Amino acid sequence: MQRSMFDTPETIAEEIRSCVKCPLAGTRNCAVPGEGSVRSDIVFIGEAPGASEDKEGRPFVGAAGKFLDEMLADIGMKRGDVFITNVVKCRPPGNRDPFPEEVNMCTESFLWRQLEVLQPKVLVTLGRHAMHRFLPATEKISVIHGIPMHITSPKSGCTFTIIPLYHPAAALYNGSMRKVLKDDFRKIPKMIERMEKEE
Ligand code: URA
Repeated sequence: MQRSMFDTPETIAEEIRSCVKCPLAGTRNCAVPGEGSVRSDIVFIGEAPGASEDKEGRPFVGAAGKFLDEMLADIGMKRGDVFITNVVKCRPPGNRDPFPEEVNMCTESFLWRQLEVLQPKVLVTLGRHAMHRFLPATEKISVIHGIPMHITSPKSGCTFTIIPLYHPAAALYNGSMRKVLKDDFRKIPKMIERMEKEE
């Protein structure tokens, strides 16, 4: 990891916007570094930008993003209160899953550095791909969704709490998953309150 002591959220974002480290640079319109409050205790992490995000250079601005906004509003928050990003910062063509090399390159180059600079208390992973960046492949999202897990960054030794949630795009048109996701979402404020008390 090329963390420099001069990293700030904005310098990392600038690097992401001009990154040509993997072939996704050749097919993207805009890289999507992430956005929101750099002082927030919560970072939401999706998989990779889709078509709308690639056009605008902003995360979660399509249908899944509208649903995410709705769930944030339901717990009294707006997107400016949290930081939202993705594991992979450029859209894989045709919305295919990112290749492992792309995921590894992007995580090593940017995601860990973003997390070290932002220092959130909680990482909310959206979908199994984002979850598996932090938790072993044997963990099943259908089993551990909504359950806080603790991880230590292999890079810095910082500890984070991860709350794995279903991806809003997967839940959008699936009534039962939608309900589970909304219920899990509503647990977030209490979890953060509890963590603050334990500090
Ligand atoms: N899905 C994601 O995982 N990320 C986005 O930014 C949009 C849709």
